[in-house]
Amino acid sequence: MKAIEIENLAKVYRRGFWGTRFTALSGLSLSVEEGEIYGFIGANGAGKTTTFKILMGIAKPTSGSARILGTDISARGARMKAGYLPEESYYYNYLTARELLRFYGRLQGMRGRDVAARSGAILESVGLAESADARLGEFSKGMRQRFGIAQALVNDPAVLFLDEPLTGLDPPGRKGLRDLILDLKRRGKTVFFSSHILSDAEAICDRIAVLDRGGLVAEGPIGKLLGSKVKSYELQISGAQPDAVKDLGIGVGIRSDAGIVHVTLDGTADPDAVIDRVRSAGGKVVALIPVRETLEEFFMRSGPSGAHGGLGGFGGGA
Ligand SMILES: Nc1ncnc2c1ncn2[C@@H]1O[C@H](COP(=O)(O)OP(=O)(O)OP(=O)(O)O)[C@@H](O)[C@H]1O
Ligand SMILES: [Mg+2]
Repeated sequence: MKAIEIENLAKVYRRGFWGTRFTALSGLSLSVEEGEIYGFIGANGAGKTTTFKILMGIAKPTSGSARILGTDISARGARMKAGYLPEESYYYNYLTARELLRFYGRLQGMRGRDVAARSGAILESVGLAESADARLGEFSKGMRQRFGIAQALVNDPAVLFLDEPLTGLDPPGRKGLRDLILDLKRRGKTVFFSSHILSDAEAICDRIAVLDRGGLVAEGPIGKLLGSKVKSYELQISGAQPDAVKDLGIGVGIRSDAGIVHVTLDGTADPDAVIDRVRSAGGKVVALIPVRETLEEFFMRSGPSGAHGGLGGFGGGA
């Protein structure tokens, strides 16, 4: 059984006084296996949140269908085993994190006692252990975001839908959340998350889908999308002067840092032959690092909005 199946999903919004039709999603199809971490990548306005809202039953699709763990999203029980972090959330400010978590657990049909038993561990897993008894009104943006993730985890869901979970988190927070997502995967959970930051997906995803103006432009395992082609190598040498390395004529972009000389070799270079030359000149090779295409470069190359800035710019969408 697939964790998530989306078939030919389309959403047409009607906008303004005249009800002008606007296509936010057109013929989106994808499927996510159980236990996968799946990245949903797209620029502002690409249709990510629209997809999440349809899957969560908040918006109605214009056409197409979707299933969560085999149950059609139009069925009542479809979201029983799902957890959802909305893109924007408004919390009751006068309750503490622990109290509010209990409230969300009760909404999910859990017993208060069962939520209480889990809440400490959940809040700890998102880095809120010390603020468990502080009111949400006192939380910073990043803390609210962390609470949103705790709220999505409260019923120990099998499938998690996280709409931009990394937005607003500081670097340790991002690292913590990536580790948490990897840990959920180890426990057999499925994680479907959106981002416009490709490096987030690159670090943890099994597969990604790249969405551009409501349509899929690429889909698959990251390694396959990027290819295994080596763009260049970085060679690190110790026990040699930069000038002496330059004289060997083995590569371009020579720089020296803390006694190590870094040389950038062309992707077509023969690393074996280069290493031999360095060694026979008395240098010691301490590292040889192949540099592959990054997701950013992939998107600039392949996305239709690549021509006007791709994900990094403000060109896509609305
Ligand atoms: N309720 C609505 N009525 C009309 N148009 C809408 C509505 N909601 C979204 N849209 C439009 O649909 C498109 C997709 O919006 P959506 O929120 O799904 O994008 P997104 O990929 O989540 O973007 P972001 O990265 O900015 O969150 C946008 O052009 C948006 O203006
Ligand atoms: Mg969005």
